[in-house]
Amino acid sequence: METVLIKYLGRHVNEEVQIQGWLFNKRSSGKIRFIIIRDGSGQVQGTLVKSETDPELFELAGAVAQESSIRVKGIVREEPRAPSGYELTVTGLEIVSPAKDYPITLKEHGVEFLADRRHLWIRGPRQASVLRIRSEIEQAIRDFFYERDFILADTPIITTLAAEGTTTLFEIDYHGEKAYLAQTGQLYSEATAMALGRVYNFGPVFRAEKSKTRRHLLEFWMVEAEMAYCDHEQNLKLQEELVYYIIQRVLKKNWLELKTLKRDVNKLEAVKLPFPRISYSEAVKFLQEQGEDFKWGDDFGAPHETILSNKYESPVFVHRYPAEIKAFYMKPDPEDPKVVLGADLLAPEGYGEIIGGGQRIDDPELLQQRLKEHNLPEEEFQWYLDLRRYGSVPHAGFGLGIERTVAWICGLEHVREAIPFPRMLYRLRP
Ligand code: 4AD
Ligand code: MG
Repeated sequence: METVLIKYLGRHVNEEVQIQGWLFNKRSSGKIRFIIIRDGSGQVQGTLVKSETDPELFELAGAVAQESSIRVKGIVREEPRAPSGYELTVTGLEIVSPAKDYPITLKEHGVEFLADRRHLWIRGPRQASVLRIRSEIEQAIRDFFYERDFILADTPIITTLAAEGTTTLFEIDYHGEKAYLAQTGQLYSEATAMALGRVYNFGPVFRAEKSKTRRHLLEFWMVEAEMAYCDHEQNLKLQEELVYYIIQRVLKKNWLELKTLKRDVNKLEAVKLPFPRISYSEAVKFLQEQGEDFKWGDDFGAPHETILSNKYESPVFVHRYPAEIKAFYMKPDPEDPKVVLGADLLAPEGYGEIIGGGQRIDDPELLQQRLKEHNLPEEEFQWYLDLRRYGSVPHAGFGLGIERTVAWICGLEHVREAIPFPRMLYRLRP
């Protein structure tokens, strides 16, 4: 008999199949027993009618405990009332390994209780749906870049460069030498872009954030693209295409997960190309009109991003920030050097920044000046300056935060649910 994944039961209607998984839940009403089985790909309800079932099997289905590992045989039935559209008439049940007193019962638990048991919490249908969507998003990103001839060039995790400011560095002892965990792969991707043209890196990055918000992790995943011969405008176009591509993929592939999460998909379907764009200066004016106490030169906090992004159904680009509040490598706008040719992409529904990016300084003198202004050690950046000394070109790129994107698409309250094992200010375990 064929072992099948629950997500593919629809291909086997009226056939007898085997499923290998765990018992998620069970219900009983005397003459009929229901066992809900999960296998990682989804979940399905199995039905046993006392009068039509072998008594031993009927007994076993009543005795099996939550999260025991089980092999179940059954005949696939169409069932329009089931979330997935299918059910199983159980013909066999084998307990592979019993579970006893599973700590996460089916009643409500506090989030700290669940976070302490994250290794088990991820088995629940909501968490598993989020992780399946995360996987689809990461695959969509890889496909997007592959289809557009980008080269995946991995960047180091151990580095000596503070690329995104010195306040969020995780310092490590590299055999007696001081090093850091990478905050970004960008500077290395600028080098690989000069070698390979259009590149991306995709991996974990680290920031010793002191803030405890629903948007901040200390370890998160970022995909960063970097393109030689690319300007600010072309950079924005690629970003909006990527985000749109991700949304379409999830809508197509993860409708059942979105349903499990009770995500309002109308909100995702409303995302349209091109995305709106407003300059930082326009955004400041808008915030002031809304009665916010905000001056030109301030950086946006989460509440400001929320006000701005709530104006639109699609994500919005805020471009041309003041140079002082952005990273050292951002290229000044030739028409107004107080601001840089960079943009953040703010997701709707109050989710805020999911992408940061921009055109890079390509002039070695200006770059050297910026390093000084930012108190960064010039000797460490000599190789980075070489990129401007030997065939410098206009180039641009961006970084998209995976967890923030997953949180938005899934409609999560907190990024901690967007990664299998979150690292936060007060959470290092499990
Ligand atoms: O805006 P950031 O800091 O940009 C960079 O690191 C650039 N070097 C990227 C580039 O141009 N190649 O970070 C990029 C994105 C943010 O927009 C946000 O989505 C996410 O990374 N991010 C975080 N996500 C979770 N927790 C944190 N502490 C995050 N910090 C940034
Ligand atoms: Mg940013």
